[in-house]
Amino acid sequence: MTWDYKYMYVLPLASLLTVLIAYSCIMMVRYCWKRAALKKKIKTKKDECREALERLAAGHQETDGQSQKSKILDLPMEKLLEKLISCEFNAVDVLRAYQQQALEVNTELNCVVEPIKEAEDLANECDNMRNRKDQHKRPLHGLPVSLKECYFLKGYDCTAGMSDYIGKPSEEDAVIVQVLRKQGAIPFVRTNIPQTMMTYECSNPIYGQTLNPHDRTRGPGGSSGGEGCIIGAKGSLLGFGSDIGGSIRIPCHMCGVCGLKPTYRRLSVKGTHELGQGQTLINATVGPMAQDVTSLVIAMKALLCDDMFDLDPTVPPIPFRTEIYEKTHTLKIGYYVFDGYLEAVPACKRAVMDAKTILENQGHKLIPFQVPDVQNVFTELYVRITFGDNVQMLLECLRNDIIDPTISLAVTNWSLPKCVQWLMSWVVSCVYNDDFVGKGIRSTCKTQNVYDWWKLAEKLQEYKKKFLSLWRSLELDALICPGFAFPAVPNGEVFNVLGGVTYTTLYNLLDYPAGTVPVTKVTKEDEAEMKDYPTRTRYERFIKKYFSEGTVGLPLGVQCVGLPYQEELVLRVMKMVENGAPFTVRTD
Ligand SMILES: *[C@@H]1O[C@H](CO)[C@@H](O)[C@H](O)[C@H]1NC(C)=O
Ligand SMILES: *[C@@H]1O[C@H](CO)[C@@H](O)[C@H](O)[C@H]1NC(C)=O
Repeated sequence: MTWDYKYMYVLPLASLLTVLIAYSCIMMVRYCWKRAALKKKIKTKKDECREALERLAAGHQETDGQSQKSKILDLPMEKLLEKLISCEFNAVDVLRAYQQQALEVNTELNCVVEPIKEAEDLANECDNMRNRKDQHKRPLHGLPVSLKECYFLKGYDCTAGMSDYIGKPSEEDAVIVQVLRKQGAIPFVRTNIPQTMMTYECSNPIYGQTLNPHDRTRGPGGSSGGEGCIIGAKGSLLGFGSDIGGSIRIPCHMCGVCGLKPTYRRLSVKGTHELGQGQTLINATVGPMAQDVTSLVIAMKALLCDDMFDLDPTVPPIPFRTEIYEKTHTLKIGYYVFDGYLEAVPACKRAVMDAKTILENQGHKLIPFQVPDVQNVFTELYVRITFGDNVQMLLECLRNDIIDPTISLAVTNWSLPKCVQWLMSWVVSCVYNDDFVGKGIRSTCKTQNVYDWWKLAEKLQEYKKKFLSLWRSLELDALICPGFAFPAVPNGEVFNVLGGVTYTTLYNLLDYPAGTVPVTKVTKEDEAEMKDYPTRTRYERFIKKYFSEGTVGLPLGVQCVGLPYQEELVLRVMKMVENGAPFTVRTD
């Protein structure tokens, strides 16, 4: 037999192939193993939270049969606080009543991620306070409050729905939480958020999906969706959310509750989830959400105290200015029903017109207002700034994570090479007959260097100046506008109608305080008017589809806006709207 030199290359080739196959196998096994470990980690976390909830529920069964429960739950926050401070009610009883209520609404709506176990001790402490007089110095004495999961809480994970943050408990409470406790409040449950908090859906692989209390087939809005839901379902009187694009106001509008997004520095953000805090041109804010405007006022009064100014010296030491809130002089208020990009649905327009009538009936002067240049402002400023790192930070956090189906398409898009995204954006511009979406995609990959960033900062300043001079030229005190472009969105469909956010992002970009107050609900007539809603672009077609039926009875809010640091005036306008709107008037 002679060796055939023709086959000389077989051996090296075969070994190379073997090595390659072996390598791929190893990588595949490693990937599967990692994935399994990840799933286990998420499941363990999920189970821990569920067990904590079950333990709490079991504890309640033993002590059930409380006659006071419905008496407690029927009271608005202001009245309940009076009874807590005067010792007519025990903090422990109030806590039990709200724990039970929260657990009950949670079984159907999945708004609570876990109970806060320290609540019991705090309630006992409240009831055992030696010096009864001290209670009067604590404006929130014994009040149970709910917290969005993104607030640091000592010993608890703060995940924003991302598995990367599991098993890394916070070392300290958020400043807001510390102040709440000092003022007597009892944080008792943590509520759900969307994965990454960068959408207004409310779902993540760890805690699952939260539903809207008024319609289970629709979402509560977000990102403070768990808060909107639990408060809308009357499982909590007061809660705290955060807002960088509407995350407090959108769930308020969609769940029928009140909420305030203050000016950035007015309340301390120290100790909230840190993802994206390196971007400082448009900052996330924190704020209260509640069942009525008076509760928001009580919360702001309690928070704007020396404790907060000490714990976070970057907060300007301005206490709540009751004199501004209580003033009765006539105001000049601007209004609009369309911001210039996506038409708000007829129901949302009517909500603004209802609020206008309410304010006019109280003697105020309402004049039309036109938002300058909203479309460019959103794509060329808001998106370019908030995604100024080309979404790198977010993608790094999600790299090894299981991605929630509600954001998976967006994450896939962001992960594509920039040139592909660029090409795609032009295709989208043509196919969708809507340059807005294309521009939005392009904007996420446009900022290249510090020069671009400085230019962007300059443009932002220019727009702020322009907006302010328009405001001044009209001599406005405040502004009212749609709470959002449409009511609650069917579950899982938010990205098809993402463009609605121009109604809320504007006031993050400007850093003006804005609050949302429920005014009315969708009627049959509103829905019938949807037949004339335009269908030129893809967003418009989806809006027409989602809101032409099945929306009757969904809550609708309006936003009330003021100049920076005019939270008290914004709350005054909200209160006036609420007074004239039967939807929010509570019977007590
Ligand atoms: C955002 O926050 C940072 C850090 O506190 C601050 O330096 C910056 O001025 C803030 N930006 C705005 C627009 O207020
Ligand atoms: C992802 O990109 C595709 C194609 O450009 C686009 O149709 C779609 O709306 C994008 N999806 C999201 C969620 O951004």
